[in-house]
Order: sequence, then structure tokens, then C-alpha cells
Amino acid sequence: RIHELRSGKTLKELNSHTSFVNDAFFTQDGFHIISASSDGTVKIWNTTSCQCIHTFKSLSRASEDPVNNVIPLPQNPEHFVICNHSNTVVIMSMNGQTVKTFCSERKEKADFVCCTLSPRGEWIYCVGEDLVLYCFNYTTGRLQKTLTVHEKDVIGIAHHPHENLIATYSEDGLLRLWKP
Ligand SMILES: *[C@@H]1O[C@H](CO)[C@@H](O)[C@H](O)[C@H]1NC(C)=O
Ligand SMILES: *[C@@H]1O[C@H](CO)[C@@H](O)[C@H](O)[C@H]1NC(C)=O
Ligand SMILES: *[C@@H]1O[C@H](CO)[C@@H](O)[C@H](O)[C@H]1NC(C)=O
Repeated sequence: RIHELRSGKTLKELNSHTSFVNDAFFTQDGFHIISASSDGTVKIWNTTSCQCIHTFKSLSRASEDPVNNVIPLPQNPEHFVICNHSNTVVIMSMNGQTVKTFCSERKEKADFVCCTLSPRGEWIYCVGEDLVLYCFNYTTGRLQKTLTVHEKDVIGIAHHPHENLIATYSEDGLLRLWKP
């Protein structure tokens, strides 16, 4: 839903996902909204018309794999990061092309649940169902570091806007700060 803050009115309802909407952002130019859903899709919307203009679906596995996060890539306004319930994070372009992938190589109960980027996009941080934080070097695509961050299921992760500091939060009732 798009709300006008001043009046508190709901202006538009973007209606085409068939399950939970887990994440959304406006593109830098404001022309589009990109959203991620538990229906297994990422959608691109026209902000003015509120029409869905693209739907991207994973081809290689159960298409209902929830998409947890979509995040704009700071170094390229045409690209964004998709974190779905798998061991692979994908960089995609606005026309649906896969630009880059980052894979934890873990097979068992280690699908990603959330993801964030460093402010300039040099690092991609994901947390898996295995409670492990995975740090990927964007340039090389390599997994640089892993770290167990909680004792119970992790809900989310956030990066400080300009310091080398990460926050993770979890069903164990804790918010933890990390210097990766
Ligand atoms: C969005 O929709 C508006 C109104 O229908 C149209 O004029 C505009 O060209 C569209 N913009 C994009 C980026 O597709
Ligand atoms: C989602 O997960 C599958 C693996 O299950 C992967 O192949 C796919 O590229 C991922 N990303 C998107 C955007 O579907
Ligand atoms: C990523 O890896 C490359 C090659 O090893 C290195 O030069 C670069 O400094 C790394 N990036 C960061 C942000 O550390």
C-alpha cells in the first residue's frame, strides 16, 4: 500500500502477490517499486500507474521458495539483490538477467533467511537457518567469513549506515551487534 503521510490516507493498493510481501523498496529514480514475496516472486511496479510490469520467478526449484529480501545495489541503480529461501543470493538487473550469484555451498538446513549489504555494497551479509552469518566479498564472489550469531532462529539483519557494524535479531529475544 502507498500512503500519504500528511493526510494518513491510503492512496494505492498494489495487488498481485499471492502471499506475504516480505520486502519492498523504491528505485533511486522513484519510477519503480520492487517487491519480494513468499509466493516465490519478485515484482517490479510502475510507481505512477501502480501496475505490475515484471514478475520474476525462480525456475530451478519449487517456485514457492519465499523471497525474503530485495535490496538496491548501491553501486548500480539498475541492479538489485535477491535473497530467497535457498543457499544462493542473486544480483539481478531490472530486465531480469542474473548478473552475479553468491552461494554458501551448504546443503542441509542452511537456506538464507535474511540479507543486508554494506553501505557501498562491497560486502553481502546473509544469515542462514543454521544461525550462521555468511560474509561475501562482492567483487570476488567469495565467501570470506562465517560466524554463528544466535542460538534461535534469526529474524533479520541490518547494517549501520556508515560504520563497520551489523545488527542481527532473533527469536531468542536478542538484538546483537557485530563488528564483522
Ligand atoms: C508508468 O505509467 C505511467 C502512467 O501510465 C506512464 O506514463 C509511464 O511511462 C510509466 N513509466 C514507466 C517507467 O514505465
Ligand atoms: C532462488 O533459489 C533458487 C534455488 O533454489 C535459485 O536457483 C534462484 O536463482 C534463486 N533466485 C531467484 C531470484 O529466484
Ligand atoms: C575483496 O577481495 C579482493 C580480492 O581478494 C580484495 O582486493 C578486496 O579488497 C576485497 N574487498 C573488500 C571490501 O575487502
